[in-house]
Amino acid sequence: MLKAIGSKVNLMCNETYLAVEFMDCIKDVYDNEKVKKLDNWEQHNHTSRLQHSINVAYYSYIICKKMGWDYRSAARAGMLHDLFFYDWRKPSSLRTCNHAAWHPLVALDNAKKITELNEIEEDAIKKHMWPCTVVPPKYKESYAVTLADKLCAVIEFFDGIVFVRKLLGSRVESSI
Ligand SMILES: [Fe+2]
Ligand SMILES: [Fe+2]
Repeated sequence: MLKAIGSKVNLMCNETYLAVEFMDCIKDVYDNEKVKKLDNWEQHNHTSRLQHSINVAYYSYIICKKMGWDYRSAARAGMLHDLFFYDWRKPSSLRTCNHAAWHPLVALDNAKKITELNEIEEDAIKKHMWPCTVVPPKYKESYAVTLADKLCAVIEFFDGIVFVRKLLGSRVESSI
């Protein structure tokens, strides 16, 4: 079953409106071979980079949908925000700055090679590490992606479900 960490929504269920709409937003990039290769890389603890990207995409989508913002761009940016293929824990002479500043640029470059990005998507990918990087996001959807990224990183670090249940409570959980 494909789902975002801490969520009960089966993203492959054709009868769940949220799942259908979310998958419609990300389908072209989710089906891309390069994006699927993210499954070979560990991101946080036992979470693959692909699962992390799905988590960030889904919660970016949820935040923006509830706020009446551009949820499609946020979901797509979430799927592509960590599209890089190296172990970030290992030092590399190829990186000209630290990983936090470097990988959003690599991800943006890789994302542009597999799909066309709008301005919001570009900004959200490039600025998702803010405030670790200096320039703040330009769009509210970019803030949603950077927030979802940090939230998901924490949940993944603590191995998710128990933590998120305590944090959000059952009322919120049942609605997402
Ligand atoms: Fe990242
Ligand atoms: Fe991330």
